[in-house]
Amino acid sequence: MVDLCMLDSSIFAGRRKQVLDKIGPNSLVLLGSPPAALRNGDADYPYRQSSDMYYLTGLDEPESTALLSTAKTEDFVLFVRASDPAQELWHGRRAGVDGACSNFGADKSYTTQKLKSQLLKRLSQIDDFYYCFGENQDYDKLVIETLTTLRKGERRGLRAPKRILDPGSILHEMRLHKSEEEVVLMRRAAEITGQAHLACMEVAAPGGNEGELAALLDYTFRRMGGTGPGYTSIVGGGANATILHYIENSSPLLDGELLLIDAGCEVEFYTADVTRTFPVNGKFSPAQKRCYELVLKAETTAIEMIRPGVTIDELHQACVRVISSGLLELGLLSGDLEECIAEERYKAFFMHKSSHWLGMDVHDVGAYRVDGSARPLAPGMVITVEPGLYIAADADVAEEYRGIGIRIEDDILVTSEAHENLTESIPRSVEAIEASCNAR
Ligand code: GLY
Ligand code: MN
Ligand code: MN
Repeated sequence: MVDLCMLDSSIFAGRRKQVLDKIGPNSLVLLGSPPAALRNGDADYPYRQSSDMYYLTGLDEPESTALLSTAKTEDFVLFVRASDPAQELWHGRRAGVDGACSNFGADKSYTTQKLKSQLLKRLSQIDDFYYCFGENQDYDKLVIETLTTLRKGERRGLRAPKRILDPGSILHEMRLHKSEEEVVLMRRAAEITGQAHLACMEVAAPGGNEGELAALLDYTFRRMGGTGPGYTSIVGGGANATILHYIENSSPLLDGELLLIDAGCEVEFYTADVTRTFPVNGKFSPAQKRCYELVLKAETTAIEMIRPGVTIDELHQACVRVISSGLLELGLLSGDLEECIAEERYKAFFMHKSSHWLGMDVHDVGAYRVDGSARPLAPGMVITVEPGLYIAADADVAEEYRGIGIRIEDDILVTSEAHENLTESIPRSVEAIEASCNAR
């Protein structure tokens, strides 16, 4: 077990101050939490706070709501479940109204039941209301009812906010640029993820099962201090690897097949997102090796380009060019390279994009385009690079290539000079992978 590196409450306070500085006078931001989700019967899924809510409060409880305001009221108000010894005996600890102030820095706190009346009062005092519709129907209903009451009550002296704005325009820009503390957590997530992938390479063998490796990932993530996977792990052997988001993870591992594992550990709400593909029996077949080295060349080419000013679109175009040219060499496509690219014929085998933002959400927040143009990378952003090659089991290609699915994915921090590959140490070359698979 490794110590967690808990974020200090001053970090959350600093983030709230940044938001308050950006929203302008007479403004209010409402952030809510998703409802607890039932799995079946009365059994719950483990609770996961919304990333925005956690980012600003550090509070990991359902039925909690945060208000940040620059009106003549408190800056930071929390609504939480009331302390209740009987409920806490069955379902776990609660911050409670007192804890919301003493442990989470609220200037004022109420029970969740008070949200409706407080929202009516506080929304009638502001001009700009930052709220994201469409994420949670309960909040949407409450907000619409409150705004309607305010509008209808104008003759009685009530007034509704003048503007409704997207809090993401502020919050998601902040989340896109990682601070030093966030990078520390992402490095830790990457390190644990690497140990888990390595453990899988060592353990996988014909006769095993995808599920056994999914369990090994979970075990390694939690044993090393992570909270578990940051998204459902993908453990796909053989043609299962050609299903992009395969999560059944229950088939036997077969001799001669490749195994694709896309799994990332979450550490204090920050996740890694790593894919490695390796031979179940520890040795790539010649056809598997040719395909693998093609994907690796695309990935390496894109990673080497990463520095401030480059765009994610440019990285993808570089991957597309390498993969398309390789598909022609392998005889999986025919014709002219420029035509294959222009007509997007490579999409028969490489149908997804090569990168996305990474952070608290695996597909993290932040605008990909600014003023209509692809956004240049800047220091502090973290992206994935993840080209792949997916040949369906019934594809009309040479037999040796059918059912091969390969993705190689690393997590890259953009630095002022160029970049740092946070997942560099996880075996990637054919030689390093075969050595790790045979180290069991
Ligand atoms: N693990 C999902 C993705 O790579 O985007
Ligand atoms: Mn990814
Ligand atoms: Mn992934």
